[in-house]
Amino acid sequence: MANLKWEQAAPGIWKVQEGESSPLSAMSVMGKAPKSTALEAMTAAAFPVDANQISVKVTPRQTIVTLPLEREESLYGLGLQLLKLNHRGRTRYLRVNSDPKQDTGETHAPVPFYVSSRGYGVMVNTSRIVSIYCGSAVRADSGLSGDAKDRNSDRTWKATPVSDTVEIVINEPGVELFVFGGPTPLDAVRRYNLFHGGGALPPKWGLGFWHRVPKSYSDQEVMNEAMAFRERGFPCDVIGLEPGWHSKSYPVTYEWHKGKFPDPAGFVKGMAEQGFQINLWEHPYVSPDARIYEALEPLSGSHTVWHGLVPDYTLPEARDIYMKQHETDHVDIGVSGYKLDECDGSELTRNSWIYPAHAQFPSGADGEQIRQLYGLMIQKMTDELYRSKNRRTYGLARASSSAASSLPYVLYSDLYDHRQFVRGMCSSSFSGLLWTPEVRKAKNAEDWVRRMQVVCFSPLAMVNAWADGTKPWSFPEVETIVKKYIDLRMRLIPYLYSAFAQYCFEGVPPIRAMQLEAGSVRAAEGQEHTLDSTDFAYGGVSETEVDDQFMVGDSLLVAPLFEGESERNVYLPAGVWYDFETYERWEGGRTIRVSAGLDRIPVFVKDGAIIPMMPALQHAPKAGEAVELELHHYGTAPGRSQLFDDDGESFAYESGGYRWRNLEVKKTADGTLSGTVSEAGDDWQSAYSTFTWVFHNLQAQ
Ligand code: GAL
Repeated sequence: MANLKWEQAAPGIWKVQEGESSPLSAMSVMGKAPKSTALEAMTAAAFPVDANQISVKVTPRQTIVTLPLEREESLYGLGLQLLKLNHRGRTRYLRVNSDPKQDTGETHAPVPFYVSSRGYGVMVNTSRIVSIYCGSAVRADSGLSGDAKDRNSDRTWKATPVSDTVEIVINEPGVELFVFGGPTPLDAVRRYNLFHGGGALPPKWGLGFWHRVPKSYSDQEVMNEAMAFRERGFPCDVIGLEPGWHSKSYPVTYEWHKGKFPDPAGFVKGMAEQGFQINLWEHPYVSPDARIYEALEPLSGSHTVWHGLVPDYTLPEARDIYMKQHETDHVDIGVSGYKLDECDGSELTRNSWIYPAHAQFPSGADGEQIRQLYGLMIQKMTDELYRSKNRRTYGLARASSSAASSLPYVLYSDLYDHRQFVRGMCSSSFSGLLWTPEVRKAKNAEDWVRRMQVVCFSPLAMVNAWADGTKPWSFPEVETIVKKYIDLRMRLIPYLYSAFAQYCFEGVPPIRAMQLEAGSVRAAEGQEHTLDSTDFAYGGVSETEVDDQFMVGDSLLVAPLFEGESERNVYLPAGVWYDFETYERWEGGRTIRVSAGLDRIPVFVKDGAIIPMMPALQHAPKAGEAVELELHHYGTAPGRSQLFDDDGESFAYESGGYRWRNLEVKKTADGTLSGTVSEAGDDWQSAYSTFTWVFHNLQAQ
């Protein structure tokens, strides 16, 4: 059974095809070329596991892939996972689901790609639901039967015994399987992202602050709410409209409501003049009252959702109809992007809404395949539309899939658990996904502040007031704290933007789990996972799993506090760290205990880090507008980092229209620190006008 014919798909990436799988897959939808130069520049990797231990069994109904698993191996990834970070010992059913309330693996964005703590990754390219037994099934031929225990007398008996295999089950008679080399978990993730075209680079305004208004607001109400931000001095770049902007919604028309928005072009232009981008909510189900309904009808599935069509967007004709309508009605009048809602589906007992898995689509695809890839298809179409205009978009999507790293979309959810939302910041980073722990409402001012502090360090900083009508200043007693963090978000745009450029060019996730960090001994050496420990009694992960803190770029570590907490444990990777606000010095390579009042979220900065910061402007700088930059250096160590410099809005960077500016701090002969910025060249119009160094080396004095 072994003897699979592996071929190299790209440097450090291997592929095998066994049997026949459907030509419709995440990769066929995306059609992206790998970033070969960046892949070639990575450290060479050998095939990471014993190839003889990988087997594939194809039957007429399903394919079973078996892979080896070491005793102390943790498995991460599998898409946006809000309930668990390490899947070791669990069975994962990777179906798209908008209400993944149980810990089964179902999620808005299932990705059949896992990353091992031993520094490699495994992916299945498919349109089917995949089940992965992450060391949760024990084969009779494993030789582990000697480990049988007597529960009557042996207290170490476990409900889920240790297994030595991962089994992947795909419901079709064939598989396209990929293995990604390391040597570190981050390398495997980088290879995965680069293989799928690299990470997304949002426009600069996308990294500013976002606010979604209540669902039935008219043009004037939207403008009034937006101007309240300016009056109070709260930065805001994007205003999101919710369902009421459509002439009809649930199902939708994609056409403006004539009563509430009599002059859409004038409205969008007026908002732009005040520095606001407009983002439009929509879902995929087309109303009988939509202009494009008739044309889409023969190109749609056998079942409807809310009596709206479910178009088959694997068909170029269907894509064309959708894209042309969106182009004229929205993109050409200046709309900046979309929130692609409800492209997931739900089977909740009382509120079920989705076409069935047996639905038939004109292309021959069935409901299961369309549902698994629908979010990806719609993200791809809208991304292409903006690309055709040489304008970058940034938006939200409620479903995604594998091969999605290049898409400028951020996932979100109606499930509103703050801890789960923070875990999403970690889990999404293993799978080429971005996630926002959006803020809607709060139990009290404390809950509000804690949620706002976290969202300001996420890929998309947003209040979603569609139902609750909240505003950042809704809790007056904490308004100044909230403003401090939105201002900090704005100041950090050059840093965040450079981290995203690293995602785009090198595949490094801008926000990432600690298990991807060098110096995270526990992740690298697998120390926390002694599978015989009682933590694993039911196959769960260790209580000590670090899933509530994350890295932002290379230098900042964010350790959120939740409502009711004033202190917590923080795992600091090896090295010296400083508190970002108090400059307190900490030795890393251990877990520390920190406390912080409401006015502070614990953030740590690496010794020697250089953080570029701009003023807390009311909105992000536009193309051609240069801002003054402060370069903040922390601690006593010399340091280097890179600042990305381009127009911030177009795709010119894809054909060389960018500069990496090298920032460097050195120790001079007299022991003081001094910083330099590399030149960009006379012919370069920089996004930065001046550079001022600020040294935070209080500990040295
Ligand atoms: C939900 C979505 C919310 C909001 C609402 C509008 O599905 O998650 O954020 O947009 O629809 O009806």
